[in-house]
Amino acid sequence: MARPKGMAFAAVGIAAVAVVLLLAETGRRWAGLGPEEPVAVMDFTPTPERLARGQYLVENVMGCFGCHSDIDWAGTGMPRLGTEGGGGRVYDDTLPFSIYAPNISPDPETGAGTWSNEQFVRVLRQGIGHDGRRLISLMPWQETRHLNDEDLAALIAYVRSIPPVKNTVPPLELPDEVRRALVSFEYLTVPAPPADAPAAVRRGAYLVSVAGCGGCHTPYHPETGPYRHLAFGGGGPLHGPWGQVASANITPDASGIAHYDEAMFLRTIREGAVNGVRPLNHIMPWKYFRRMTDDDLKAIFAYLQTLPPVEHRVDNTEPPRPCKRCNGEHGYGDRNE
Ligand code: HEC
Ligand code: HEC
Repeated sequence: MARPKGMAFAAVGIAAVAVVLLLAETGRRWAGLGPEEPVAVMDFTPTPERLARGQYLVENVMGCFGCHSDIDWAGTGMPRLGTEGGGGRVYDDTLPFSIYAPNISPDPETGAGTWSNEQFVRVLRQGIGHDGRRLISLMPWQETRHLNDEDLAALIAYVRSIPPVKNTVPPLELPDEVRRALVSFEYLTVPAPPADAPAAVRRGAYLVSVAGCGGCHTPYHPETGPYRHLAFGGGGPLHGPWGQVASANITPDASGIAHYDEAMFLRTIREGAVNGVRPLNHIMPWKYFRRMTDDDLKAIFAYLQTLPPVEHRVDNTEPPRPCKRCNGEHGYGDRNE
């Protein structure tokens, strides 16, 4: 969905996007693998290394529980006690229909306790639920499908190892046209790093693509999806219980983060405040990202530096104004041609 991605957090944003999407039923199909295609043979043995890597990905990089848990938006912006282990979530009810993130904890009755590794792979690589249904794009499988085999196996091993949470989440029931629009929403594929890019830049591209930065940080058209020429250029509206905010331009343009250096980037993500000063809205999942290693955050910054600069002024300290460049509404929208 619109962010459809932001991560979970984003996920939230996504729900907001959903509203927009529902206005536009595109009928387009995601050219993914079909349900009939066999899932590759992988080793899911829950070794300590695999569980540690899986936990790192789930909790620090990909923020699965930011969507699959009930979030305390008025307080910390983190999962509420009791459902922190992916026990599912009912999205805010400001939408004309209800959106739920299923209970993915290993509870056999109300969660994923009886699902197989292969069922998880189909979800995360193909967007097909354990029961064969096509998942709406709010579930960011178009990002998780970029995980390499070992990371995917680690992530699944970890999710299947967490304590079960007993919490019944109702099945998602959406009007047909809304479901079609939400299922067919296509995500941004992040620009490939230059062919001769150092290994750190390539790792940064991988992390950015599975962490879903582009899903929130790229403005989108409800019918045609993300504006590729504005990739990472910000302005995507995210309205919800966390407030009203637009994503920031994180390309190396003067209107983006050209003024950042590596130290400022690490400080911003770790403290959740631009250069430690202006606090960032909770929908920017810095509370998850801040637990990434220095090396991974540096790799992310190195990759962002290689993005094509996008001239697009977005400033959340200013009142929202219509923007001709992204067709959205955000602070300094009136300063873009
Ligand atoms: C769920 C949506 C979402 C996701 C996912 C997300 N962001 Fe953000 N990000 C935002 C929003 C919204 C803001 C603006 C927050 C504000 O101004 O209060 C922001 C702000 C930022 C800023 C501050 C820019 C500035 O100086 O104003 C940086 C840097 C940033 N994000 C980097 C990233 C990176 C890197 C990733 C991926 C690892 C990422 N974001 C993923 C929503 C998101
Ligand atoms: C932005 C929110 C969001 C994020 C982030 C997210 N999910 Fe989901 N997920 C959903 C929603 C919503 C659904 C239900 C989609 C539907 O029913 O069409 C879902 C469905 C699923 C399912 C399928 C459940 C079923 O019934 O078969 C699994 C498994 C799952 N998610 C695991 C994960 C994992 C693992 C991660 C982290 C890598 C993750 N999700 C990240 C929102 C999210």
